[in-house]
Amino acid sequence: MNIAVYPGSFDPTTNGHLDVIERAAKIVDKLIVGVLINPNKTGLFTIDERTQQLKMLTAHLPNVEVRAFSGLLVDFARSVQARIVIRGLRAVTDFEYEFQMALTNRSLAGEIETLFIPTSAHFMYVSSSMVKEVASFGKSVEGMVPETVQKQMEEKFRAKFKNKEEIFFNEN
Ligand code: PNS
Repeated sequence: MNIAVYPGSFDPTTNGHLDVIERAAKIVDKLIVGVLINPNKTGLFTIDERTQQLKMLTAHLPNVEVRAFSGLLVDFARSVQARIVIRGLRAVTDFEYEFQMALTNRSLAGEIETLFIPTSAHFMYVSSSMVKEVASFGKSVEGMVPETVQKQMEEKFRAKFKNKEEIFFNEN
């Protein structure tokens, strides 16, 4: 049985992530989406919120599981018997970081292979950080993230900027 891990921060899940999940789920027997618990970084969404988002968004995929993990990715992969790490590649700019990560993981655990899935062309520019930046200015991120995530982001930023609601959440 081919078990793969698709790790990430998923703060929040974008349509680009979902594209990779759906495509990876077709080529492996079981895909475990691993949400990194990073104690040094506070995100927009809590780890619980991120895992809940992902569970809901992947509920239609019977061979996909969502779990939070801390520590090294290779240790997590080993703990779930995964021999494959899936990463999405958007543009050349992703490559250096991804290659470095893949080589580091390979030196730590030679039995685990990293597989890159090129993102679909229309998600090439979509990243969690871009989406957060755009949404923080009250602009629509429709098409970049699932509708439910978009609503949750609007709520988060609305709470954050509640005194400036009229500035950040106009209809433009
Ligand atoms: O979505 P991201 O932030 O690009 O995902 C990065 C992630 C979670 C895959 C990476 O930071 C990671 O694997 N962290 C766990 C710690 C680890 O294993 N580090 C060594 C390899 S870089």
